[in-house]
Amino acid sequence: MAAVQETLVWDAPVRVAHWALALSVAGAWLTAEAEGWRLLHITLGYTAGALVLLRLLWGVVGTRHARFVDFVRGPHAVLAYLQRLAAGRAPRYLGHNPAGAVVIVLLLGLGLLVPLSGWAMLNDLGAEALEELHELLAQAMLLLVGVHVAGVLLASWRHRDKLVAAMVTGRKRAEPGQPGIRWSWWPLGVLLLVGVLGFWLVQWRAAPQGGLVQPERVLASERASQDED
Ligand code: HEM
Ligand code: HEM
Repeated sequence: MAAVQETLVWDAPVRVAHWALALSVAGAWLTAEAEGWRLLHITLGYTAGALVLLRLLWGVVGTRHARFVDFVRGPHAVLAYLQRLAAGRAPRYLGHNPAGAVVIVLLLGLGLLVPLSGWAMLNDLGAEALEELHELLAQAMLLLVGVHVAGVLLASWRHRDKLVAAMVTGRKRAEPGQPGIRWSWWPLGVLLLVGVLGFWLVQWRAAPQGGLVQPERVLASERASQDED
């Protein structure tokens, strides 16, 4: 039996962006309801938007499996893949599979539209309707995250892969003729991480007394002073 060969597939910027994006979106979701958490909500939401913008750029100039041309396929290829999946004969991909890629593209799209609608709402660009839109888009995104995670687990089980671990280490089992990437671009991954943490620190320091989570007592006194005006 040929020895199993592991190869580098996901570069460091892809991995850092993925987990920072997942954390920011989850955090933005969890802080969406309470008024006192709004600054944290906005900070995490902007983080998500910025990460998606950078990921889009990396999808053009990045490493082999990070590039959109490597994994975005047309409807025919996606349907053919789904048919083979239903028949239990889905081929194994080293990068993203065609169906997973559809969900990824939608997640990236919503990862831009949700923060954009939040920003527009905050800047009074269309009042009530934007509030509804923002919430609706966020709900669609949550639904897709569910589909995404289910797909990851299904593909991991089907092909006996550890896809979640691969998104951490960057490495996957490669079959002959499946080329990986040569370098992880780790300095860029570190820079991205420092950028995210730096932005959070700047936001935290610029926040009024109480930090990014405003205690109810501060909000109440703000409301009272607004009522006086
Ligand atoms: C808000 C939550 C999440 C969002 C927005 C999200 C988004 C994404 C995106 C955009 C990609 C493409 C990566 C790239 O090429 O840069 C991806 C891939 C991936 N995600 Fe997530 N993700 C989320 C949560 C999760 C969670 C919780 C898990 C773990 C179960 C996970 C596991 C993976 C894996 C394993 C891949 C690679 C899939 C493959 O091998 O084709 N994601 N995700
Ligand atoms: C991935 C990023 C984001 C997610 C998942 C998200 C999600 C949500 C959700 C679900 C709500 C509705 C909460 C409720 O039930 O009332 C909400 C409200 C809100 N979001 Fe976001 N959001 C994100 C980013 C942003 C950004 C970037 C901003 C501003 C720049 C923002 C500003 C707001 C505001 C002001 C509200 C309150 C609207 C109201 O008064 O009802 N959000 N967000």
